[in-house]
Amino acid sequence: MSIVYDKSRGLLTLETDASTYQMRIEDHGYLEHLYYGPKVGVSDMSFMHRRYDRGFSGNPYAAKFERAFSLDTLCQEYSSFGVGDYRIHSIGALHSDGSRCAEFHYVSHESKAGKYALPGLPAAYDNGGEAETLIVTLRDPITKLTLRLYYGVFPRLDVITRAAELINEGTEDVFLEKAASVCLDIPFGSWDLLSFHGRHCMERQPERAALSHAVQIVSSERGMSSHQQNPFVILCDREANEDHGDCFGLMLAYSGSFKAEIELDQFDSVRVVMGISDTQFRWKLAGGEHFFTPEANLAFGDGLTRLSHIYHAFLRNNVCRGEYKLAHRPVLLNSWEATYYAVNENRILALAEQAAALGVELFVLDDGWFHGRRDDNAGLGDWFEDRDLFPHGLTHLAKKILAMGLQFGIWVEPEMVSEASELYRAHPDWAFQAPGRAPMLGRNQLVLDLTRDEVRDYLFDAMAKLFRENNIHYVKWDLNRSLSDLYSPAWEPGRQGELGHRYVLGIYELLERLTAAFPHILFEGCAGGGGRFDAGMLYYTPQIWCSDDTDAIERLAIQYGTSFGYPASAMGAHVSASPNHQTGRSTPLNTRGIVAMSGTFGYELDPGKLTETEKQEIRAQILRFREDEMLVHGGRYYRLTDASKQLPYVAWQFTSEDGSKSLLNVVGRHSQANAPLIHLRLKGLDPKAVYEIAEDGSCLSGAALMYGGYTLPLLTGDYPAIQLHFVRKQAIREDA
Ligand code: DGJ
Repeated sequence: MSIVYDKSRGLLTLETDASTYQMRIEDHGYLEHLYYGPKVGVSDMSFMHRRYDRGFSGNPYAAKFERAFSLDTLCQEYSSFGVGDYRIHSIGALHSDGSRCAEFHYVSHESKAGKYALPGLPAAYDNGGEAETLIVTLRDPITKLTLRLYYGVFPRLDVITRAAELINEGTEDVFLEKAASVCLDIPFGSWDLLSFHGRHCMERQPERAALSHAVQIVSSERGMSSHQQNPFVILCDREANEDHGDCFGLMLAYSGSFKAEIELDQFDSVRVVMGISDTQFRWKLAGGEHFFTPEANLAFGDGLTRLSHIYHAFLRNNVCRGEYKLAHRPVLLNSWEATYYAVNENRILALAEQAAALGVELFVLDDGWFHGRRDDNAGLGDWFEDRDLFPHGLTHLAKKILAMGLQFGIWVEPEMVSEASELYRAHPDWAFQAPGRAPMLGRNQLVLDLTRDEVRDYLFDAMAKLFRENNIHYVKWDLNRSLSDLYSPAWEPGRQGELGHRYVLGIYELLERLTAAFPHILFEGCAGGGGRFDAGMLYYTPQIWCSDDTDAIERLAIQYGTSFGYPASAMGAHVSASPNHQTGRSTPLNTRGIVAMSGTFGYELDPGKLTETEKQEIRAQILRFREDEMLVHGGRYYRLTDASKQLPYVAWQFTSEDGSKSLLNVVGRHSQANAPLIHLRLKGLDPKAVYEIAEDGSCLSGAALMYGGYTLPLLTGDYPAIQLHFVRKQAIREDA
């Protein structure tokens, strides 16, 4: 039982292997948050919450003689609005009488085996029969707005999920102006905020700073989770490092505009509220209607490494779905950096043939193949081949590629439309555009109104036809601009504030239909690289193109930052040409291979430009990746150095869960004369076992490797890289 109810004290306790989460139905009916942190069992944690009369922290009328009781100081499961809690609110609700006050009182709760689902939204699922669900129902005593708080408990994984449902039990419309997924109060400790910012071509860079007495906001208003901020934040103890220290993660499974607000209040208590961004949000909730928030995944770990391991296992096993989630991912060659828009039948067939000769398993035809597409100014929306480029059709091309022993994959950007397209000419009103205002263009394209059923139906039919007729094995689902001009004639004026969220629900519905109709297709998410890299997308696409920056040295920092929350099996990573097209940097093929092998692995270059020696090396890389793939994708990821700092080298390691195998990766960023020796202290090994280093046959004990460290040879030359395999040979006898 991971959910325990102590009726006499009104305590609800959620327990995982290493953490405890506790709340209390307190005497005035509020749902008080008592504790989340290292495991304390079911002990009553209310002693932590001593109440004092605090100046300018008022008292609810019903408690008017209790000057020490104030919503302004009470830790809560879902903070109220307008009734005396001046910290970050979780709810915004405008009622027909113009009032906005909202507070929730406990009504009932239920717990059950299994994990709740959320209609139309991605939600983690039970995978092994361990999850339990707690639903607490609360109600505003005046407006009768009902709130159901959902808690999913995954004991072995140390994850607690949260979501909220709002129900209008009245007859008048209510307008939701904010509906957070989670509110978490942490009244103890001193904390750093670790968040992941970035830009196109440099996503998810960790930034860690002590909380100050201000509200900090990590958010996106771009209609997508964004390159600029990721919907994942960590609160870690000031002293926490990779190995030790309290670390809380809050990860939103949502792909649209989001907001995480973090406040250190006047009494040094921390509040985090996270959910859909309220900036452009206004949702009409008519009488009897329900609104579900996206899910937030909370985890607690001792040290940042442990926190990452929790999220990696959780996302792989309980969020990603489909045939590929744990399976071998085909090594691919993607045409983009080989051809850009200069594709045609002969060029693509030649590329595919060269790819097959290298041992590649899947050939991906990226952008440029469809009707009218010669550059990024035209064609989006017309998802059929350009006959001038492919005179025998795509089906013919696909057959030829399959006959080479390859699988065939294709790039699409379904959510977008070019003005120069048949689709736009037929349905100009299908693109978002505010009345009387010329829409913003991004890459010269417009955004399709996915809130409309007919638009999604068109896209489903167009995609299904494309996938079916061409025996598609893999789809790269791209998105290349931020959203703007959110206005749709399909919705009444009072509902325009729903469009951002309805758009995301539209993507989810479309992806749900397509992944269900084509279970054998491997879908890879993409948004100009990693602009929509989030747990919501991972529910539909088990891998996401990590970044449009394919420079191996830049990728060290990008993949490092991404690894805090997301597993290697989710990170699309390719070997590209040298000099690199984004940075002009030249790096050895070995280095590019080692960096890309820490993701889903593939190539994105023109094999026709390779020397025979390079081709040999690529063949060997592919074989090596196939051998290491399960260790990389399913093993434990250890960050051995901080790649966000300009250290001379970056090292990371994958170790199998049972400690029997480990893979060490090192890349030199700048070689130094007369450099100090590097002793890399490995992690996750069995200290009592002997490991053979496969590359040279030498043997060292796990203890020696972890406590003394593996001593690297001096790194010389430009961007050298080393990959070493450690294989457990035997256990050392206790008495040895
Ligand atoms: C952006 C993607 O991230 C690239 O990999 C490539 O597919 C281009 N779009 C094509 O337009």
